[in-house]
Amino acid sequence: MYRYTEFDRRFVRQRARQFRDQLERHLAGQLGDEEFKPLRLQNGWYVQRHAPMLRIAVPYGELSSRQLRTLARIAREFDRGYGHFTTRQNLQFNWIALARAAEVMDLLAEVDMHGIQTSGNCIRNITSDALAGVAPDELVDPRPYCEILRQWSTLHPEFAFLPRKFKIAVSGAIEDRAATAWHDIGLHVHRNAAGEVGFRVLVGGGMGRTPLVGTVVREFVPWQQILVFIEAIVRVYNRYGRRDNLYKARIKILVKAEGERFVRAVEDEFSAILERDCEGAAHVIPEAELDRVSAHFRPPEGVAPLRPDARSAAFADEPLAFRKWRERNVRLHKLAGYRAVTLSLKRVGQAPGDATDAQMDRAAALADRYSCGELRATHDQNLLLPWVRESELLALWDEARAAGLAAPNIGLLTDMIACPGGDFCALANARSIPIANALLERWQDLDELYDIGEVDLHISGCINSCGHHHSGHIGILGVDKDGAEWYQVTLGGADGSTLSGNSVAGKVIGPSFAADEVADVMDALIDTYRDRRAASERFIDTVRRVGIDPFKGAANAVRRSTARETA
Ligand code: HEM
Ligand code: SF4
Repeated sequence: MYRYTEFDRRFVRQRARQFRDQLERHLAGQLGDEEFKPLRLQNGWYVQRHAPMLRIAVPYGELSSRQLRTLARIAREFDRGYGHFTTRQNLQFNWIALARAAEVMDLLAEVDMHGIQTSGNCIRNITSDALAGVAPDELVDPRPYCEILRQWSTLHPEFAFLPRKFKIAVSGAIEDRAATAWHDIGLHVHRNAAGEVGFRVLVGGGMGRTPLVGTVVREFVPWQQILVFIEAIVRVYNRYGRRDNLYKARIKILVKAEGERFVRAVEDEFSAILERDCEGAAHVIPEAELDRVSAHFRPPEGVAPLRPDARSAAFADEPLAFRKWRERNVRLHKLAGYRAVTLSLKRVGQAPGDATDAQMDRAAALADRYSCGELRATHDQNLLLPWVRESELLALWDEARAAGLAAPNIGLLTDMIACPGGDFCALANARSIPIANALLERWQDLDELYDIGEVDLHISGCINSCGHHHSGHIGILGVDKDGAEWYQVTLGGADGSTLSGNSVAGKVIGPSFAADEVADVMDALIDTYRDRRAASERFIDTVRRVGIDPFKGAANAVRRSTARETA
């Protein structure tokens, strides 16, 4: 994984020192709330329901065991013993006292971490496929490009005050595990017929009240020119994006309104930057720079394809529970003899994506023992060990189970995505966590869960869609009706694949439901699927084949409340 250079390190430490000075002046009354606000936000400090909330970036999801131990320490010594992994490979803390914020930033800087650009109308954390560099369906490893993008976008002076936040996701694989089509810019790195590496570029994806899938604006931008092409997109957005209306400020609205004209403006700007490049000022990536960065992303020392005799035999007498875990939580690997293992952060009594300090420490220890000290934060709010020897799976399973990290539920109904909702977020219309917990408890019977099979369940506490409810096969959205919590249900959303596209927003199945009806509605949806499914057909495929009407009918039949129209 990428190791900070002395330059990176000096920069982050300086930032931590600068923040300490700003905080001290604020606490001494020399900087008022309004003056301090942009300074704290630029370092990831929001104010939410209970206390300041800190968002820490995990660039493209790569995390070392040392970093995770520091996050565990922060959870233990500064928060209430847990942190929340988000869908965009960030970690959020909810209870840190502002007076101690500078200490936290110093600790983070020691392990090359920070909260810069995790807030504000700038380019946010670059996210990617949690299986980058190890997935068998990978066309090109996206991580060197992610790292170059990270360096380019960090403190980019021109793009510090965009009309609205700006999110970029990169995938180099066929399965889209980074929700690229739902981002302001989605990048698919692949090879053209001549074998050259370049990017398919999607622009204008996003959720919120106007869910839109990104439009492909270029099938192939040579890798050398990708920063220039992105610069052209963001420059056109910076110039023409709407600043008069918060709800119309994202780039998706500009792309939707202007269509071809937007694409032409980007192409013109792209050509103009390249033409003006008489003194090499354009950010064309030199081969030597790509090589320098790529060197960080070789497999860890000692990791190489294993000869058949060094691999494990089939797990002849494997315990049933281990087999189930292996089938759900273990993925094939690019390297013979290796596997990628997901540590589930979805279990009863914990909000989806939450990890306690003890779990973070245990996950760090597992990474040290079984995965060369490396982990990944996933879009689905889990942790992943990318370099596990197949022969060590059984030992890893044993330890992961003891740490409460081996729920064998990856891809199933209980492996849900959920935002913090009304328990923590000041913008929420309803709580997400109690709904998530009730559903987690409802589906604890593994046989039933396995029989249902793969379902993406996504929950958001308001229309900002942090829990990606639009792309859930089943989506749940919290809505506020006269001060009470209600939930709108959507069906048929999907994240798609980088080759075939088919990312799609789900359709609303009717007026919203009362909180105590949600579990019954879920039962009705799942029962309808079981009644209608063809052999080995997944939930989403049945929905696509039979349409949403039978599901809609069944869900609305369990309604006890008076049906109300939803906003
Ligand atoms: C509690 C603190 C949070 C606040 C105040 C917050 C606020 C927001 C707002 C206002 C937006 C909409 C921006 C717009 O469309 O213009 C947004 C989008 C988003 N948030 Fe959050 N968020 C929070 C936590 C989270 C968490 C915990 C996650 C992941 C679990 C998350 C993931 C996202 C994503 C993926 C989007 C983009 C949705 C889209 O495609 O439009 N956020 N957030
Ligand atoms: S979806 Fe709404 S409730 Fe949930 S975290 Fe985002 S802003 Fe808060």
